[in-house]
Amino acid sequence: MILSLDQGTTSSRAILFDAEAEVISQGQYEIRQSFPRPGWVEHDPEQIWESQLAAARDAIAASSVPANHITAIGITNQRETALIWDKITGEPIYPAIVWQDRRTADQCEELKSRGMAGVIADKTGLVIDAYFSATKLAWILDHVPGARERAGKGELLAGTIDTWLIWKLTGGAVHATDVTNASRTMMYNLHERQWDEELMDTLRIPPSILPEVRMSGGDFGVCDQQWFGLEIPIRSVLGDQQAALFGHTCLEAGSAKNTYGTGCFILMNTGTEAVASRHGLLTTVAWGMGDELYYALEGSVFVAGAAVQWLQEGLGLIVTPADSEEKASEVDESEGVVVVPAFTGLGAPYWDMYARGAIFGLTRGTTSAHLVRATLESLAFQSRDVIDAMQKDAGMPLTDLRVDGGAVRNNLLMQFQADILGSEVTRTTYAETTALGAALLAGLTSGVWTREQLESFNTAEKVFSPQMEPEERERRYGAWQDAVSRTMGWEKH
Ligand code: G3P
Repeated sequence: MILSLDQGTTSSRAILFDAEAEVISQGQYEIRQSFPRPGWVEHDPEQIWESQLAAARDAIAASSVPANHITAIGITNQRETALIWDKITGEPIYPAIVWQDRRTADQCEELKSRGMAGVIADKTGLVIDAYFSATKLAWILDHVPGARERAGKGELLAGTIDTWLIWKLTGGAVHATDVTNASRTMMYNLHERQWDEELMDTLRIPPSILPEVRMSGGDFGVCDQQWFGLEIPIRSVLGDQQAALFGHTCLEAGSAKNTYGTGCFILMNTGTEAVASRHGLLTTVAWGMGDELYYALEGSVFVAGAAVQWLQEGLGLIVTPADSEEKASEVDESEGVVVVPAFTGLGAPYWDMYARGAIFGLTRGTTSAHLVRATLESLAFQSRDVIDAMQKDAGMPLTDLRVDGGAVRNNLLMQFQADILGSEVTRTTYAETTALGAALLAGLTSGVWTREQLESFNTAEKVFSPQMEPEERERRYGAWQDAVSRTMGWEKH
């Protein structure tokens, strides 16, 4: 068995997989969200650890298989969320600052005004943004009394959530991260494959607090036997979106996945080449295995499932998100209605924080069904925006889009996604792609499976093929692009 630990933004989950990569049992606990000020988001690191441990113990207890049958543990985690703790006591000196937190936006503006954007993009593949870990760590060091001094004396350790879990699981023996999590900090040099001295200096992060960077499929030590009654090796660590890419077995360059959650996270494997984006995407590490780093292009859509939530809670047009399919099916098409759900600005490839949502094309005949349908379509249009940018950057066509997340049950949306992309969309058999990805990599690293075997897992449950005529597709997409351009900068009015 492989035990997969999936520490996400809203929950800590643990899933036990058998030798056929089938789910045997699982455990899950919610994570408390704390919003101390507008734009701030924090998690309690102790709750993260305790909930993750409890979820793992629940999964093992529910399996009726002895724990000594667990070959390895794989860890996957919410990315960018960062914390600092005392090396001796293990106590965090401040809550974990969550990836969504915007408190360091001003520092990021300042870095941009100092002309750092080009250097950071070249070295890390990222755009300067409060999303990434470095400015969060600097904020903690600047705001917790005595923290910088203690860091200077070597009393503190820093890390993303993977590092925190590894350190706890190994009883403080291993302070390490993997290349995927490192690549989200804004301090990891993709080309030199190490923490970048100039960036650590610019961002004022003392090197001594940072973890050692290891390959995603590798040796992260063994769990202290106090947790599960025996030592279990940790053999994979990777960020959750990268784990989903691996779980979809998008192992070849050109393959891509889209996870439809609150937002959409789209990643395309670009192989062993770090492709620099000219179209507003991020270059990130997909995973590190053996001596090789594999890269991905990534684009995030801020509002996807959140737009369906808006239909439910904001407009009261549907009772549950699942109702959206039936409601949208009341009409054959959206009849010129276009919804742009730019509620919090627009992410990739537009990056306009001043864009705001809008509805276009209303007529006296517009009904709630048109609005629901057009909102669902906006998820597919936004995904196409990112995928078009990926294809241009990578110079390779999309071979197939594999999908996961809550909205993929919506057949109408998936069919529209295939129609508007003009390529196949594959819904796979596993709902838990992220946890599966960490398990598959841990199993591969520890010799449970071969790379060829991995391809036989998580096969297609349903393939949606494009049915829309190309002229119609481009007409509809052109209307979307026109609508988006009209929402940009709106907040400045
Ligand atoms: O970059 C943030 C992402 O890793 C969070 O994913 O699934 O925890 O919301 P999730």
